[in-house]
Formats: sequence, C-alpha cells, structure tokens
Amino acid sequence: MSRAYNFSPGPAALPESVLRQAQQDMLEWGDAGASIVEISHRGPEFMAVAAAAEADLRTLLSIPDDYAVLFLPGGATTQQALLPLNFAAPGQRADYVLTGHWGKTATRQAHAYVDLNVAASSEAGGFRDIPQAGEWRLSPDAAYVHVTANETIHGVEFRPAAAGGHAFPDTGDVPLFADFSSSIASEPLDISRFGAIYAGAQKNLGPVGIAVVIVRRDLLERAGQPRADIFDYRLQLAAESMLNTPPTWNWYLAGLVFRWMLDEGGVAEFARRNAEKARLLYAAIDGSGGFYRNEVDAAVRSRMNVPFFLADDAHDAAFLDGARAAGLIGLKGHRVLGGMRASIYNAMPVSGVAALVDYMQAFQQRHG
Ligand SMILES: Cc1ncc(COP(=O)(O)O)c(C=O)c1O
Repeated sequence: MSRAYNFSPGPAALPESVLRQAQQDMLEWGDAGASIVEISHRGPEFMAVAAAAEADLRTLLSIPDDYAVLFLPGGATTQQALLPLNFAAPGQRADYVLTGHWGKTATRQAHAYVDLNVAASSEAGGFRDIPQAGEWRLSPDAAYVHVTANETIHGVEFRPAAAGGHAFPDTGDVPLFADFSSSIASEPLDISRFGAIYAGAQKNLGPVGIAVVIVRRDLLERAGQPRADIFDYRLQLAAESMLNTPPTWNWYLAGLVFRWMLDEGGVAEFARRNAEKARLLYAAIDGSGGFYRNEVDAAVRSRMNVPFFLADDAHDAAFLDGARAAGLIGLKGHRVLGGMRASIYNAMPVSGVAALVDYMQAFQQRHG
C-alpha cells in the first residue's frame, strides 16, 4: 500500500495513525462485543466516547466554560441556515461580510430568515483581499455579524494584525459569528471574541458528516424564530447533541483526531507547522518568475488553502497527471476558480509540502 500526499480540500487527509486506530476499532470496541458503529449512542460506551471528544476539544481550543459545544449532523451549510433561526428575530437585520464563495453561500442560507445586509464584500475585486474594517457598513441593531475565517476556495484568511494580516474586527455588543470550517484548530484562537463559531469537520477535525458549533451560552437564551425542535440549538444542548440518532462513527473519528492533535503538541504546534508549510509553498510560487501565481493580497493569504495558477493553463492537465504519478493528489482547483489548489491542513506534514514544492520546480524545469 502506498498512501499519497493528499491535498484535497475536504473531505481531506486524516492522520494515518487515526485511520489505523479506526481500522482496529472497527471490528470490536473494547469489550462491547460489537463495533463502535453498531452500538447505541446512549449506551455507556458511546457516551464515554462523546464525553471524551468534547473534553479533548475543549482542551485543544481552550474553550471557555461559558461556551457550549454541539456536535451536529449536516455540515457547515446547515449551520449557516440554523444561525439565523436560532439567533435572529424574524426579519431582524444580520450583517454579512463576504470575502469569498462560502460567505456568499452563508447569505443564501440566511436570506429567507433575516433582513440581510452585506456589510462589506471583496467580490468586485475577485475576492482577493478583505475590505478594511473601517469600510464595513455594520448595523447597530444587527442580530450578529457573520464572517468566514478562511475562504477555502479563494484562499483568503483573516490573520492576526501582529502577523501583518487583517484581524477579526471588534463588533462591540453585536456578536461576531464565524465559519471556521477550514481553519479551526490551525492556530491558537481567543474564542471569547466570538458569539459563535462553527465548522464542518471534514478539513481539520475529522470526517465529513458532522459539524462542531461553539456558542456563547447566553446567546442560547435568544428566542430566535419558529423552528422545528431538531433545528433548535438550545434543545440540542439539553439533549447533549442527541435529539435524534447522531452520526456516531463521525463523532468517534473526530474524537480520535482531537486526541491526535493534543498528542502532537496542540494548536501552538500546528500553528508552527502550518506557518512553515505556507511559507514554503508561497515562496515556491512567488519565486517561480511567474510560472506559477497566487493572486491573493499577501496580507490575507490563507495558510490552509493555496490556490495557484500556471501561467499557461494548457499545462494544467499535465501538471495534475504528473503530480499524481509523483504521489501528490487532490490538487485540482475548485471549478469556480480553475487552476490548482493545495489544501494543507493540520494532517498534511511539512514533508508533503516539501514534496509538492520539489515537484513544482521539476515541472517548471521541464515546461518553463
Ligand atoms: C469555509 C466553508 N464553509 C462551508 C462549507 C460547506 O460545508 P459543508 O459541505 O459541510 O456543508 C465549506 C466546504 O468546503 C467551507 O470550506
């Protein structure tokens, strides 16, 4: 068996040790007499798995006690619809800042429920930067402000000002909601700055099919809008995210990934590795004399998803074929942008990016 370096944007690479553990646990879980996917979610074995996953995630992300954690089916897009239902009164204003494709997706899920205000957007410039915070047209009476921490397709990320980037703004009394699907757990984060953050698991946290929502508990007191029980975060919390049968296998696997991240040194260590990987890859692109190019403003370039283009797109197919032959998969760009994209989440080792850079340089020598 030879596993490739997998640059897929999501579902994405999982750590090999996690896959091996899952393989081992697949047949029988402890002395349960059955696999973890075959036993009741309410039995002691799975309840222990769920509790450990939450405890580990709390440790990993330093989640304050006044924040609740939900593990929900339905991915990130579903949460984009549930946020207005749970936190905005019918027709109440909600502010959205668009820095790429997924911010727009969020507006499509929310617009039926709120008076949606696009407070700022970088779409006119092709989503290559983040509008300056001073230019955001925020509404004082908004239920929340929604941003996308990392735009997975456009490769645009909010970054700490100390790192020369565009930091998350202070939205005062209006809670800031952020889609962290493609950058959660990639570096230390002060969760207390947010009203809610959410993430589909399939990039940094585990397998597709489950999402994590971290929400300040006092916001759960909001009445929100008429909604079915199953869409009600407060009821989900009271039911320990088990209002209906939860995706137990996904939850269990995410728990293994949380443990792996803690064992590897936690988010501080991943921040170090992720910075190194991004540095290597952007340096290779910028140093290619225009053979490769990334079009995102340097201050807001994503550390997780690196879209890049070949100067001559006639070489795209050969680039991808050669990459696959070199053991580098998942590099085809999203159809919205074309070109290439390397997703370099926590499970991608520095050696994988080094191998990609070697391949890019060799390809340029042959075709440049
Ligand atoms: C930033 C971001 N938000 C939302 C989504 C949609 O997630 P899901 O497919 O889990 O609904 C994605 C998927 O790639 C994403 O990258």
